[in-house]
Amino acid sequence: MPQYLRALKGLRFRLTFSHSVFFALLLAAIGFGFRQNLREETEGQVHTALEEGWDGATAFLHVADGVPSWEEFPDDPEMEAAGLRLRAMHLLMDEQGEILSISGPYISLPTPTPAEVQRVLSRDQPETFLLEAASGAPYLVRAGRISGSQGHHYYFAIGRSLEPSVNTVRAFTENYFIALPFLVALTSLLGWWVAGGVLKPLNEVAHAADKITGSNLSLKIPLRGAGDELDRMIDNFNQMTVRLHESFDQIRRFSTDASHELRTPLTAIRGQLEVALLTAKTPAQYHEAMLQALEDVERLSRMVSVLLQLAQAEAGHLVLERVRLDLADVVRDVVDQFEPLVEEKNLTVKTTMQPGLTVMADRMQLDRLAGNLLSNALKYTPAGGSVSIAVYAHAQTRQVCLQVEDTGVGIAAEDLPHIFDRFYRVRGIQSHADHGLGLGLSFVALIAKAHGGHAEVSSTLGKGTCFKVYLPAAAPAPSGTVAPAPHPDPVTANSVH
Ligand SMILES: Nc1ncnc2c1ncn2[C@@H]1O[C@H](COP(=O)(O)OP(=O)(O)O)[C@@H](O)[C@H]1O
Ligand SMILES: [Mg+2]
Repeated sequence: MPQYLRALKGLRFRLTFSHSVFFALLLAAIGFGFRQNLREETEGQVHTALEEGWDGATAFLHVADGVPSWEEFPDDPEMEAAGLRLRAMHLLMDEQGEILSISGPYISLPTPTPAEVQRVLSRDQPETFLLEAASGAPYLVRAGRISGSQGHHYYFAIGRSLEPSVNTVRAFTENYFIALPFLVALTSLLGWWVAGGVLKPLNEVAHAADKITGSNLSLKIPLRGAGDELDRMIDNFNQMTVRLHESFDQIRRFSTDASHELRTPLTAIRGQLEVALLTAKTPAQYHEAMLQALEDVERLSRMVSVLLQLAQAEAGHLVLERVRLDLADVVRDVVDQFEPLVEEKNLTVKTTMQPGLTVMADRMQLDRLAGNLLSNALKYTPAGGSVSIAVYAHAQTRQVCLQVEDTGVGIAAEDLPHIFDRFYRVRGIQSHADHGLGLGLSFVALIAKAHGGHAEVSSTLGKGTCFKVYLPAAAPAPSGTVAPAPHPDPVTANSVH
């Protein structure tokens, strides 16, 4: 069984267990609370009955010279019965603690000590307390002072058994706590079942995930349509596999493209060498063949080093030595480097560059970025065309923009989305001599990204193309550093042939 399945099983158990423990504790707490209430309620009833009984009994009892007499109601059987009930369990004592009258279960209760008698007699109000019979049966007793003839005081008490109350509470407790384990067991079962239901889709997701490998990353885990947390998780999971799929694809494409690209010059070198072996006779011919082969080897090694840089850059290892640079200065230098080519192709180059726009950038990478854009513009613009280069601030986004626009062959709409992909070249527009690696724009995009910016392209086939690279503007230079010399004219326009 796979590890995660076991973990899920564990989850199901843990869910059920914690839910059962919680439920058991809750039920126990409710049980105890209820039991306490029940006891207070039933004892309270006895209490009230006792208070009323004491008042009734003292109304019916008269003591003269230590002799008690109870009022009788020969004509009223109901009152008679009430009177009998009231004196069913009583105790009457004189001030010395001599028992004058005792009845019913009171006989089995401990008789109060003289000190207790004195204490009760000294109080105006009767008091209620708990007594336990010799058998252990609990009784609630109310004792107080009554007055007899000649100003004598007597100790009088009546009692009521608490047994019914205790029995009720005990019966409840027993029943409840016997039922409790069954209730807990039942909810555990229910919990186990519910947890199983909840975790089932998780199990399915785990199974589906198990089937996904590097080669079938397009596999999707079906959404359940419940729109719940699990569906969200599945959705995120699916999105993750899409992203993985894309990067896998990119890696695959990269290695396919790279090997494909490397094969062409290799085949060429091989052909040249083979032909030389078969046909060359003079040292000059060998020399010629070797020169050709060397040229291709150079191209090959250039390609390999570019590929290496590209791979490193894509892996995020483009090491930038950032310094404060005036973008217009950098671009102007690059434009100067291309001057011979511009003249050779008889192109017009216009520059509109706002000075003083600084970026924190790596000089070499920025040169390469501008160089790639410019070389493309020159390469894909026929003789007589023009290339406009502009550097300006994009105020809203606090970005600086380098724009390279040409009146060249343009790029078809279907090619535009791929133009920054590596090795992507629009088919059929370039002669073999112009044959580039198709890596220039990949670098442009990567360098822009590494500097926190981005590259954009717009083009009309046959009319021209416009590339824009946005880079974050550098924060204002801290005071003390030398600011670029102020230009009298903020925008300088000039043109180079
Ligand atoms: N200014 C442009 N005008 C027309 N097409 C262009 C321009 N810049 C680039 N492209 C197209 O984009 C492709 C990719 O450019 P790039 O990555 O620089 O590769 P390369 O220049 O080596 O062919 C080019 O092959 C070309 O088809
Ligand atoms: Mg190029």
